[in-house]
Amino acid sequence: MNRIEIRPSILSSDFSRLAEEIQLVEKAGADGIHLDIMDGHFVPNISFGPSLVHSIRKVTQLPFWAHLMIEKPGDYVEAFRDAGVNGITIHCEIDEDWVELADRIRGLGMGVGITLNPETPLRKIEPVLDRFERVLVMTVHPGFGGQAFMGEVLEKIRALSRMAFSLPHLPIVEVDGGIDEVTTPLVVEAGATCLIVGAAIYQAPDPVLAFQKIKVAAEQALQKQQ
Ligand code: DX5
Ligand code: ZN
Repeated sequence: MNRIEIRPSILSSDFSRLAEEIQLVEKAGADGIHLDIMDGHFVPNISFGPSLVHSIRKVTQLPFWAHLMIEKPGDYVEAFRDAGVNGITIHCEIDEDWVELADRIRGLGMGVGITLNPETPLRKIEPVLDRFERVLVMTVHPGFGGQAFMGEVLEKIRALSRMAFSLPHLPIVEVDGGIDEVTTPLVVEAGATCLIVGAAIYQAPDPVLAFQKIKVAAEQALQKQQ
């Protein structure tokens, strides 16, 4: 891996200026937009749904990936596909058969990722890891932007990246929650290859500068490894 992706989460952005907030990170060099979809049941917060995604689809060329933190994701994958998302990330803690759901998402022409909450052990996804192009490790309890990074998850990121290297197709290892200029070197050293960043960009006084600092921190951490 010679490059770390940065995919901003718009959850902490100013929704009254959403188009500008997205275009700002696109110009700064973002690799995609992370869409946090919450239903007030799977997580104790509500965010937005397919109609908002449809509206913002026209303001950027960046790929959209929806991180579904909802109770019945299977009921909504067509709606998100129609709204223009390129990929869907599902949680392995849902009550549905998530391996089957992943196949259905792929069949609809989208990419598919699998997510683990901080307490969920890697062994839950290990046997089917090769079916996912992205694996998202939650580094906070899902539900809210701006929470503190959970350092205890670093060991899981290390183990996952070791596991990933033994697969025929190397999945992208994403981390989500509390990623900023300080935590970036820790997760990159542990093997993360994609950073999902919300508050550290959108709550910063200068979001573009914050983006650039995270990018530099990621590049420096990567160089150290090589
Ligand atoms: C939390 C979401 C995250 C979150 C990231 O449930 O999945 O994507 O918005 O936010 P920060 O970077 O603010 O921790
Ligand atoms: Zn997320």
